[in-house]
Amino acid sequence: MNQITLTRPDDWHLHFRDDQFLLETVPATARCFGRAIVMPNLVPPVVNAEQALAYRQRIQQATPKGSPFTPLMTLYLTNQTSAEDIIEAKQAGIPAAKLYPAGATTNSDAAVKGIEALYPVFETMSEQGMLLLIHGEVTDAHIDIFDREKAFIDTHLRQIHQRFPELKIVFEHITTADAADFVLDASDTMAATITPQHLMYNRNDLLVGGIRPHNYCLPVLKRNTHQQRLRDVVASGSNKFFLGTDSAPHAKHTKENACGCAGCYSAWSAIELYAQIFDDLGALDKLEGFAAHYGADYYGVARNKDTITLRNEPWTVPEMIDLPQGGQIVPFYAGQELQWKLA
Ligand code: DOR
Ligand code: ZN
Repeated sequence: MNQITLTRPDDWHLHFRDDQFLLETVPATARCFGRAIVMPNLVPPVVNAEQALAYRQRIQQATPKGSPFTPLMTLYLTNQTSAEDIIEAKQAGIPAAKLYPAGATTNSDAAVKGIEALYPVFETMSEQGMLLLIHGEVTDAHIDIFDREKAFIDTHLRQIHQRFPELKIVFEHITTADAADFVLDASDTMAATITPQHLMYNRNDLLVGGIRPHNYCLPVLKRNTHQQRLRDVVASGSNKFFLGTDSAPHAKHTKENACGCAGCYSAWSAIELYAQIFDDLGALDKLEGFAAHYGADYYGVARNKDTITLRNEPWTVPEMIDLPQGGQIVPFYAGQELQWKLA
């Protein structure tokens, strides 16, 4: 096959950051995605409709002229989030709110301590039809980092889903067989995003032969049996799993550091990475559903009307990206070859 044409895809999970970073990150995503769910973990975080709309405007200013790209905004839940915050946000067209357990990841210090305290907010979200996006990891010091996703299912997620069966929940960037099976067994109000790095890599790619900081993200890469389960569920064509890159830029020096930041910046090669994965799985026919249909269907919005085309034309991901404000980013999969290229 020399080329494939798909409904224009959407990215249901990414990080644009703010200010000067937007000049780099927004064009990268607008290159091929119709919409993107923009995560709210700025410093300080985006906690209400007014802040989300102002942030959206800054993103729109950085969007290349004539691009059909539309950012979809999210609220960052804290222990101070009120029912009014949710109602106002929903009325302002904000489709979702993100739950970060405090300390779980980049810029999550302001986040939620004691998830049960948020149940009244979940109730309002359920009534309003606002989606709950979850970074599903416990943060207890005594829980091993490789077990934190499974522990989150057992201590929180199952209960939240049972208590609020109508609340649409996206279990973000899942990394384990436990998470994949939980989502498959759950009702239709539970779905998940999966990143390219968790489909392509396992923890050997992080740790064997030396630490590779550019493959470090959270939730951390898991063992190969978990990776294989994620590959199996996307190849199966289940509509409960859809594209969310978790593309998350960090300057080179903050990742190549004694205490390196978590995040893989994949935006410039995102759809090509997924195409490679589905091709390797012999499941290219399942790419369009995953990348362009299931997410929109789950969020209850129309699928994009236009298309993109990928050509079978090997190219190499750049070693480095220069930032407009100075400094550099090493992109995910830097210096490696991909078989598919956006036309
Ligand atoms: O690796 C990650 N990076 N995981 C997250 O959950 C957040 C993200 C970021 O914002 O850098
Ligand atoms: Zn993320």
